[in-house]
Amino acid sequence: MDLFEAMRCAPTSRRFKPDPVPREALVRTLEAARFAPSGGNRQGWRVVVVEDAERRTALRDLYLPHWRAYLEQTGGARMLAEPDGFDPARVRMVRRADDYAQRLHEVPVHLLVGVRLGDLAVTDAELPRQSIVGGASVYPFVQNLLLALRGEGLGGALTTLLVPAEAEVRSLLEIPEEIALAAHIGVGYRADPWPAELARRPVSEFAFLERWGEPLAG
Ligand SMILES: Cc1cc2nc3c(=O)[nH]c(=O)nc-3n(C[C@H](O)[C@H](O)[C@H](O)COP(=O)(O)O)c2cc1C
Repeated sequence: MDLFEAMRCAPTSRRFKPDPVPREALVRTLEAARFAPSGGNRQGWRVVVVEDAERRTALRDLYLPHWRAYLEQTGGARMLAEPDGFDPARVRMVRRADDYAQRLHEVPVHLLVGVRLGDLAVTDAELPRQSIVGGASVYPFVQNLLLALRGEGLGGALTTLLVPAEAEVRSLLEIPEEIALAAHIGVGYRADPWPAELARRPVSEFAFLERWGEPLAG
């Protein structure tokens, strides 16, 4: 698959066929993703691949309370209860995300992506605002995973809702203390057709030339 095409059409897949995912496809995906950049080329990412049905159910049980709390906080719960009056596309997305949460144990493969905290170069740690730079040494790897999955014809759903359950995930999967959980990717063969292009803002809305506010492209 052409790289630019993959970038335009690697959606969040939340409904999967029950077909198993070949181990070789997962290994090829990880093999390609490992060329991601990281601060000092420390490559602190670590991945636990979960296929076992009991563990998948345990992951769903850890995910659901955080998903429900998120739904409450963001107004999603109200949107699901009384969808009239909300943007139908948004309601569809929240419904999809809710189904995904309820059926998480049916997702064939779960990738738990962690990062060795000692490998992170957190250059904004002293700034009087929320730190963001640490993630830059693991999320390029996560995006590479998503693109490589797309290249393999596999769908993926990136979420971070298991991160607040990090302690429980750590004990379930025997992940050492020095590893912070960064992402969870549900993987399988996508049940829906692939979109030709994802819905995203145009360049003119977010890229500027020379100074903030001066559009780069029309
Ligand atoms: C940091 C992060 C957290 C996300 N968390 C969730 C989540 O909890 N549940 C979910 O269904 N999708 C989650 N997503 C997927 C987004 O909803 C998705 O990327 C966005 O709606 C765009 O959808 P599309 O890529 O299919 O166009 C998350 C994505 C990111 C990058």
